[in-house]
Amino acid sequence: MNDLKAYAEIVNRRLAEIPAVIPEGAYEIGEMPWLLSRSMRYSLEAGGKRLRPAMLLAAVELLGGDVDAALDFACAVEMIHTYSLIHDDLPGMDDDTLRRGRPTNHVVFGVGQAILAGDGLLNCAFETMLAAALRHPERAHKSLQAIHEIATGAGVTGMIAGQVMDLYCEANRVADTRALEYIQRNKTACMFIYPLRAAARLCGADEDALDALTRYGDAFGRLFQATDDLLDVTGDTADVGKTLGKDAESGKLTCVSAYGLEGTQRLVERLHQEALDALSIFGDRAAFFADLVDSMVGRKR
Ligand code: IPE
Ligand code: IPE
Ligand code: MG
Ligand code: MG
Ligand code: MG
Repeated sequence: MNDLKAYAEIVNRRLAEIPAVIPEGAYEIGEMPWLLSRSMRYSLEAGGKRLRPAMLLAAVELLGGDVDAALDFACAVEMIHTYSLIHDDLPGMDDDTLRRGRPTNHVVFGVGQAILAGDGLLNCAFETMLAAALRHPERAHKSLQAIHEIATGAGVTGMIAGQVMDLYCEANRVADTRALEYIQRNKTACMFIYPLRAAARLCGADEDALDALTRYGDAFGRLFQATDDLLDVTGDTADVGKTLGKDAESGKLTCVSAYGLEGTQRLVERLHQEALDALSIFGDRAAFFADLVDSMVGRKR
């Protein structure tokens, strides 16, 4: 079993060669689509932690599946995540100027081009997964199930719904903890839950495995957002690569605004235990996932 760094390297190597993000033979008319390719790659290659694709690949390995065959699905998950970050940073959303240690996409390319880079990455994700499915008709059904999971997690009952509620609560000064849980489960946990479910689908895993990975992804994702909220208050910009202190300044509904620093720390401990409990059916084979959630508890980036 690889560690996070090794999985991230596998993902980065494949992302560098995926055809959907480097369109060939269409550079004749001015800068198109070179400009688009450049703006998508600017954000994609800025050096994120690659947690979501690594977890998809690790789940495939845990379930005894074919990691190579899952690689384009993992890359697609990272493209969708990166699109969500580009849009999350836009002036009409969180209005951030620093991401992954670099000026945000819209600062460099302009708001219109940043919206299109996000759109482009979202589309490339589906082109990439569908191309993988078409190359392997013998596993088409499993591929379609995985694509469906990933689309659901990123979609209007998943990440997008969470982002809508996040902005709504900020604009209307809603401070309700049920709304907070809804936001964090959808905007963040769904982007962990559904890639893990996609891994289970690619492997033809049973309902028990699917259910365990769903519960782990939910606890992990909510813990991850709680620690992101903590980092916004207690972190160091040089480590995190984002402008900090923004949540309080903009009146964002976060774990820290709702529960305070100590209350958030207690929530993190509870979710940590929930995540570990969800792994019990896998025994020692789930060491990657147990270590990963341990490493998130006091993370610096
Ligand atoms: C940032 O995700 C968005 C949140 C859900 C808090 P990451 O912290 O995984 O971002 P990268 O991919 O490492 O840049
Ligand atoms: C972002 O949550 C979640 C998504 C991008 C879907 P945040 O707004 O807290 O993420 P950061 O802090 O900007 O990375
Ligand atoms: Mg946001
Ligand atoms: Mg944000
Ligand atoms: Mg944040």
